[in-house]
Order: sequence, then C-alpha cells, then structure tokens
Amino acid sequence: MDKKGKGLNTICTHVGELEDTHYKGAVSPLYMSTSYAFDDVDIKRYPRYFNTPNQEGLCKKIAALEHAESALIFGSGMAAVSTALLAFLKAGDHIVLQQTLYGGTYNLVTEEFDKYGISYSFTEGWEPKDFEEKIKENTKVIYIETPSNPLLTITDIEGVAAIAKKHSIVTMIDNTFASPVNRNPIDLGIDVVIHSATKYMGGHSDICAGAVASTKEHMNRIFHLAKNFGGSLSDYTVWLLERSIKTMGLRVKAQNENALTMAQYLEGHKDIDAVYYPGLVIHKDHELAKRQMKGFGGMLSFELKPFLDASLFQKSLRLIKSSMSPAGVESTVLSPSQTSHFLMSPEVRAEQGIKDGLIRFSVGIEEPEDLISDIEHAIKEIKKGTKATF
Ligand SMILES: Cc1ncc(COP(=O)(O)O)c(C=O)c1O
Repeated sequence: MDKKGKGLNTICTHVGELEDTHYKGAVSPLYMSTSYAFDDVDIKRYPRYFNTPNQEGLCKKIAALEHAESALIFGSGMAAVSTALLAFLKAGDHIVLQQTLYGGTYNLVTEEFDKYGISYSFTEGWEPKDFEEKIKENTKVIYIETPSNPLLTITDIEGVAAIAKKHSIVTMIDNTFASPVNRNPIDLGIDVVIHSATKYMGGHSDICAGAVASTKEHMNRIFHLAKNFGGSLSDYTVWLLERSIKTMGLRVKAQNENALTMAQYLEGHKDIDAVYYPGLVIHKDHELAKRQMKGFGGMLSFELKPFLDASLFQKSLRLIKSSMSPAGVESTVLSPSQTSHFLMSPEVRAEQGIKDGLIRFSVGIEEPEDLISDIEHAIKEIKKGTKATF
C-alpha cells in the first residue's frame, strides 16, 4: 500500500502513467523531444534536467513504490549510486560503508574517493554496533546493501538507521536485491533508497538504468548534482522501464516462490554442501529477514561438494544460463570466485566465506521442476566426467 492507499500491483500498473489524449491508447505515449517550448509556468523541459513527460511519470511510479516523496531515474545503477553519494559528501567528509558491497560501488569508493578528499571506513561485521564503532566526527553518510552479494547476509536496517539518526548522519541503502516488492527501507527509517533498475525493475535483461528515491528535500539536493553530472536516461528506455515495472509485482512474487522451492530442494540435496537463502530457517539471519522483508527475494547461493567442479557444472546446464547480470525472468548462475569476486585474493575470499564451489543463482520465473531437472542433469554430467554438448 502506498501513502494514497494503492496496492502494489496497482502502483506498478498505473501510477505515473501518461494519458494518450489524442487516441486514447492503453499505454503512456512516448515523448522523445529534447526541445520543448516554454509554457506559462516557464518549466524548462530537457532530458538532462530529468523533467521530460516520460521521466516525470516514471519518477512518480518509483517514488510511490518506495513510499518516498520523490524519485529520479538515471542512466545506470552506478550513475544513481555515485550521484546520490556525492550529493551528500564533500572534501573533508567521511562515510561508513557495509563490509560487502556490489563491486562497482566498492570500486567507486576505493578508486575515486581519495581524489575528492573523502575518507571512508568499511565495517568489520554486520551488526548495528559494527557501524557505530566506525563513526567519526566528520561522518556524513552510512551506506548499506542487503541482502548482500553473494552470501545473502541481512543487515538490521532499523538498527543501523536508529544509530545514524542518533548521530545525525544520512543513511543510504542499495535496495536492488530486495526490490520494492520485498522491502521498503524508508518505512524502516532509511533516508535514501537506491536501485540498479537494470535488475528487478527492468526484469528482462534488456534495460540498463538506476533510480534514487527519498524526501523532496534530499532529492532536490541529488537533482542539483545530477543535472551537472548528466546521467539521465533516454526517454525510450524510460518508457520501456515503465512498461517493465507494470509486471514487477507479479514477476518478483513468482521469483520469491521459485527461489524458496529451489532453496529447499538444494538444502536437501546430497551433492550440495550449503545453501544461502534468507527464506530458509537455517539461514543465520532468517528471523531478521522475516521482520524486515515481505518476501525473501529471487537470489540464492549454494556450494557444490568439493569433488564437483563449479565451472563444469555451469557448462553442463542446458536451461539455466551462465551470466553476469541477475534478476531477469530467466534463471542464471555464476561462480563468484571466477567472476564478481575474481579480483579479490583467495585469502580475502576465504575470509568472506566465498568458496570456489559457490554458485550464485538468480532464480527466474520458469517452472521449478524444469530448473530442478536441469540441475540434476548437470550434476549427473559432471559425475560422468563428460562435458554436456550444446
Ligand atoms: C546490488 C547492485 N547495485 C548496483 C549495481 C550497479 O548497477 P548498474 O550495473 O545498473 O550500473 C549492481 C549491478 O550489478 C548491483 O548488483
């Protein structure tokens, strides 16, 4: 339910839609103009000012989905992350970040922030106290990302938000893996919510976009930097994203259900050593996830027994694709030690619990029995020691 009492799928389908006054078409017309005549109230419409008709419509939808006053859409998730962070940080400031973050965000902070005179600390643990102990006099932002990648660890959002409020620090969360369907961090006390809309919002692996949602005051601050950084999204992609979000509630709920089914199947499998899914009672943060999430998401990880080769396993799958970007309607897998966490030393990976046999599984909307039979086939193939033929 949003602040106006609309339910999730109604917001997904209708909020922010543009009326086709000429032909009464069912979907929002697409306005591709980069030049608009001034109107009476002198609004200067321009794509890089984030105020074309399609941009404004979609921003309303995303704000409603995240229970926020306002939102902006960007050309990528990283454009959203970098603009939001730098809108609240200047030379001399300090930021506290959760220890495990999406690689691009980690790179942005560790490769760029020194240049701008912004200092940073990563937490050593996941508890609110781990965030508090890193706070300094000049800390301006606390940044979290949960469920984390790849082990799906859950951060106590309310706990961290309460500490930040006590110290008058702005909180930001990357809500990509949960999606607005499964969690609304603003209701849990977070100030700024960020998404890689490339993932569940887009949902079909064909859109690269980002989004930020917050209060009008915070979004005004982010907008002022955003128009100078120039990370706006093309109106055609804005229109496609609006179309995609119409089915986000249905897609993500189906993915939640499938992921739970797959996690339960893998949990009981004799060739699997461990399963990480916050919806499983055995997950160390299951109770916390239950408290702060409406669904447990479509992402899980599992460890094959050491005698089963992870890359051969992926090559032997016939239906589930081996690919980088998750959260589409199609199921995908990757091996973090070979891809997203390849640049980490084996020692750091081991410290973080990322074993060579770990597989991250982005569960799609296919029938679970087809996914299960694909996994069974792949395990059988690697046991035979033969490569599957494609
Ligand atoms: C959790 C998370 N945040 C942010 C990003 C960055 O998004 P984009 O690739 O759209 O720039 C990603 C991309 O994989 C991600 O997984």
